[in-house]
Amino acid sequence: MTSDNLQKPKQILLTGPTGFIGKRLLYVLDERGFQVRCLVRPGETLDLPVPLKNSPEIVYADLLEPDTLPQALDGMDAAYYLVHSMGGRSIRQTLAFEEKDRNAAKNFLQAADKAGLSRIIYLGGLGDVTDNLSHHLASRQEVGKILQSGQVKTTILRAAVIVGAGGAAFEIVRYLVERLPVLLCPRWVYTESQPIAIGNVLDYLAGCLETPETESKSLDIGGPQIVSYADLMRMYARVRGLKRTVLGVPLVPFKLSAYWVSLITPVPAGVALPLAEGLRNKAICRENSIRDLIPIALTSMETAICNALAEEADGPGKLLSQQACFLPDDLT
Ligand SMILES: NC(=O)c1ccc[n+]([C@@H]2O[C@H](COP(=O)([O-])OP(=O)(O)OC[C@H]3O[C@@H](n4cnc5c(N)ncnc54)[C@H](OP(=O)(O)O)[C@@H]3O)[C@@H](O)[C@H]2O)c1
Repeated sequence: MTSDNLQKPKQILLTGPTGFIGKRLLYVLDERGFQVRCLVRPGETLDLPVPLKNSPEIVYADLLEPDTLPQALDGMDAAYYLVHSMGGRSIRQTLAFEEKDRNAAKNFLQAADKAGLSRIIYLGGLGDVTDNLSHHLASRQEVGKILQSGQVKTTILRAAVIVGAGGAAFEIVRYLVERLPVLLCPRWVYTESQPIAIGNVLDYLAGCLETPETESKSLDIGGPQIVSYADLMRMYARVRGLKRTVLGVPLVPFKLSAYWVSLITPVPAGVALPLAEGLRNKAICRENSIRDLIPIALTSMETAICNALAEEADGPGKLLSQQACFLPDDLT
């Protein structure tokens, strides 16, 4: 047996496989030869548009129901934690997300410790705790702390906006820019951030499993450009060949922004509010050690937007292929 075989976890539990990131990661792990068990909430179904090489095992469990977790974790070596509770359609429904996410993380860690798991890999959010973090970003940090407080070696990856079809933040940008010639946004639209392409996120997530040096670490992941949200909207317009004006205006309450977003885009106010509040916090990598641990080519935001628009997903601006993007040839 090689040292690689000794170190590499084999049985992987994937939480959040019905989500934006979890579903894509399932295909990447399958492609890399891992045996995956998917944790799906009772009553939900996991639709897989393209068959996998190895059919995944499905286990029905809810992170807020601790009794359902031991059977889900039984026999697993490692788990991905790709869950959050920010799914309410209305602002009232989503208000309890911090408490739910705290309880879900505690329940999961307790069950993982009992099951003797060797690793958890969690994807959370960028943001500096000294920056009066929004409820959403503070909650993502809290979940990371909880998951690192047990016996299991937990890796935290911290990301800003992830650019890919179906991601809530990206869909807000897509629909707003497609539908409005003039975008009057809260002035937080000028806050700097380091968005990352979904393809790069998946490579890092899968890479962690294959790189023991990432165990128990908190690693920032970001794309090659630091841009404001206004820049991201302008980039989107450029890729699509649209003329758009983006302006930040003072004194727009977050709630008003969230209701406005829910009118123009399919993203409900209950998801838009925590995201809008997070706009005030800079989301930039404070360190880049992941680049040495898992060296990959970082995708430019223009290409990431183009890839997202060429993906099989509904929505305005969908392009038949990447060739349809208005991009210079030298961008990767
Ligand atoms: N999207 C981004 O731009 C972005 C950026 C930075 C970090 N992240 C992080 O990436 C992770 C995944 O985000 P995402 O965008 O993939 O979210 P998502 O599409 O909303 O998916 C969330 C997943 O969590 C599951 N879930 C929620 N509550 C659960 C519970 N009590 N028990 C079991 N499963 C539960 C959902 O299952 P149901 O289908 O049953 O609801 C769904 O599969 C999160 O930690 C998020 O903070 C995302």
